[in-house]
Order: sequence, then C-alpha cells, then structure tokens
Amino acid sequence: TQQFRITLLPGDGIGPEITAVAVDVLKAVGTKLGIQFDFTEAPIGGCAIDATGNPLPDETLATCRQSDAVLLAAIGGYKWDTLPRAQRPETGLLGLRSGLQLFANLRPATILPQLIDASSLKRDIIEGVDIMVVRELTGGIYFGQPRGIFDANGDQRGVNTLAYTGSEIDRIGRVAFEAAKKRQGRLCSVDKANVLEVSQLWRDRITALAADYSDVELSHMYVDNAAMQLLRWPKQFDTIVTGNLFGDILSDAAAMLTGSIGMLPSASLGSSGPGVFEPVHGSAPDIAGQDKANPLAQVLSAAMMLRYGLNQPAAADMIETAVDAVLNQGYRTGDIMADGMQAVGCKAMGDVLLQALA
Ligand code: NAD
Ligand code: IPM
Ligand code: MN
Repeated sequence: TQQFRITLLPGDGIGPEITAVAVDVLKAVGTKLGIQFDFTEAPIGGCAIDATGNPLPDETLATCRQSDAVLLAAIGGYKWDTLPRAQRPETGLLGLRSGLQLFANLRPATILPQLIDASSLKRDIIEGVDIMVVRELTGGIYFGQPRGIFDANGDQRGVNTLAYTGSEIDRIGRVAFEAAKKRQGRLCSVDKANVLEVSQLWRDRITALAADYSDVELSHMYVDNAAMQLLRWPKQFDTIVTGNLFGDILSDAAAMLTGSIGMLPSASLGSSGPGVFEPVHGSAPDIAGQDKANPLAQVLSAAMMLRYGLNQPAAADMIETAVDAVLNQGYRTGDIMADGMQAVGCKAMGDVLLQALA
C-alpha cells in the first residue's frame, strides 16, 4: 500500500464541517485503492490566533513542510476582522503560501451539466464552459514593499506596491503555457498594460515566452475587459494567466459561471515540496456551524490533491465520479438548489458521497 502524510488545516467558519466530509471521502477512496493517508491536523487563521496569538504558528508551517500535501479549508471571520494586520487570519494564509513558495494557483472553473440551472447566467452562455485560471500567488500587490498606512503631513497615506520581477513572470508564465498545452492550447494573459508599467513588463515577458510554445495560441486582454468578457461569452476562454490580485477577482467571477463558489477547488503549487489544496471560497461565516455549507469544493480540492500533489489520478477520478453521481441523483446543498432537487446539508451530502463510493 501507498502511504501519504496529509496535513489538514480546517481553519475557521465552515472549514471544519467541509474538512470532515473530505476526510471521510479520502478514507473511503484509500480503502478501495490501497492508499493509506496519515492525517495530522494543525491550526491556522482565527483558530490559531485564539490558541496561540499567531495566525500561522511555526509548528503549523513545520508540519506542512514535512507532509506530502496540505488540505486547507478556509480561514477568517468577523471576530478577527479588527485585529492589526500582522495578527489577522488572512496574514496566516498568505504566510503559508509564501512560506511554501506556492507561486502557482490553478483554479479550474468547469460547469457541470447538472448545475446549469443553478447558475445566474443563461444555459447557452455557460453550457460547456471549461476554464483554467492560472493565478500568480506569491508576488504582486499582495506582497510588494513598501506597504502600510503612513503619516503624510497631517494627512494619512495608505500604500501598497504592485511589483513583479521578470523571473517571477516567467515562472508563472511557463506553468500557464504548460497547462494550456494540455488543454485546448489557447492562453489568454490578462493585465492592465495600457496603464501600468508592471503590466507592460508582464506582457513583454509572456510574449517572449510564447516562442518556446509554438503549439499554444497566445492572446492578451485588459483586466476590465476580461471581467466583462467572462460574463458575456465565457466559452472564448481556455486558459487564463494573470497576477495575484486580478486572479483573485477573476476567479470568483468565473466561479459564478459554474453555479456556486461552493463548487470550486484549487491547487497551489511550487516548484518543489508539498502543495496546498484549497477551495476558492472563504470561511462563509454567515452559514458556519449550521450544516448548510456545500462540501463539494473541498472534496474536489482533495481530488486535485490526489491528481496534482500525490500523482494518484485513479483516486482523483473516483472522487470526481462520485461527485458527478450524487449530482445526477439530485442531491443539492442550498447554494446549488434548483426546482425538483433533493435538499441536503453538508453532512448528508457527505453521506451520499460515501454511498456513491461504496
Ligand atoms: P466567502 O467565500 O467566505 O463567502 C461568500 C458567500 O459565498 C457567502 O454568502 C457564503 O455563505 C457563500 N459560500 C462560500 N462558500 C460556500 C460553500 N462552501 N457553500 C455554500 N455557500 C458558500 O467570502 P467572504 O464572505 O468575502 O469572506 C469570509 C471570510 O473568508 C473572510 O474573513 C475572508 O477573508 C475569508 N476568505 C478566506 C479564503 C481562504 O481561506 N482561502 C478565501 C476567501 C475569503
Ligand atoms: C482567496 C482569498 C485570499 C486571497 C484571502 C483570504 C487572503 O480571497 O484564496 O482567494 O485573497 O488570496
Ligand atoms: Mn479570493
């Protein structure tokens, strides 16, 4: 039997509820395929602040480093929103991403045929949508210096810095070209090169890389237009590559094409070491603790962990097939509910997944 060390970071809000479902699913798949998962749970975000005063305790980062992959749920909540920045849950998540050098965030947005009626867009616009957003994750305005709120001659001045080096652009660019090559061979690079020097450099470097990928058709789009085009005619996109902040925003927009953000998984990868696999959504404090959360983004993140982090494609397929099966059977959490479907909570969705796997 194969054996993998998995660090679980359930975090805050709905995190523990959806993690419990994903762990049950992983165990079931492991039993079927002879894979043993050794799970170690560690605190991050608000729960870590409450326990230790630090949103990313050293032990948590060390545990992640020693594992084969990390399954993260979500962090954050109202309770911690007024803490100084260094002690906020989000700072813990960003520290994890930079600490593990996870510069590439893969965010697939695929519309499952069963969920077409759950989307706020018309059927012919979203039917067949299959987009991969490749988001740079350890640079850009999230990490640029200087940053802060400074005194400015009796006024205040809030500062963040948007910066990318050429090598940072090249390494995310290569990930994106490789991803596009395995998909439909179309890559759209999204920037704001009409206004920003960083984006001009981004566009120049991505354009230069294209020489190494003659099988990929490269296009460029300004981010404001890209936001509009994603809603107007999303099928024009195959693979999208963009910086940290634009990728954050566009991936939430792309999420709604698929019916609910509660469906979208992601993989955060570096060039070596364990990846972090996490849903695109947050801790959903408005529905936390009510057994209402959709666990499928977390379950599909576990599938991405098997596929991209542990090289276990058969196990990943098994999970994705089970998700497909429960949707075919009509089971829906509130966020993807439609007429004539069977309403279930988070736990019950987990139960039907296990039945589908049995
Ligand atoms: P959110 O994604 O948590 O929630 C947005 C809306 O989507 C809410 O109405 C929520 O109920 C719903 N939703 C999200 N996930 C769902 C699921 N699985 N099932 C059903 N409904 C779901 O975004 P927000 O409200 O802007 O942020 C809440 C907190 O989460 C903040 O503290 C934010 O910083 C944090 N956050 C964390 C992550 C992460 O850990 N990766 C990502 C985004 C936001
Ligand atoms: C995400 C989240 C995070 C981000 C926050 C919580 C730091 O929105 O994973 O998309 O902005 O990257
Ligand atoms: Mn986000």
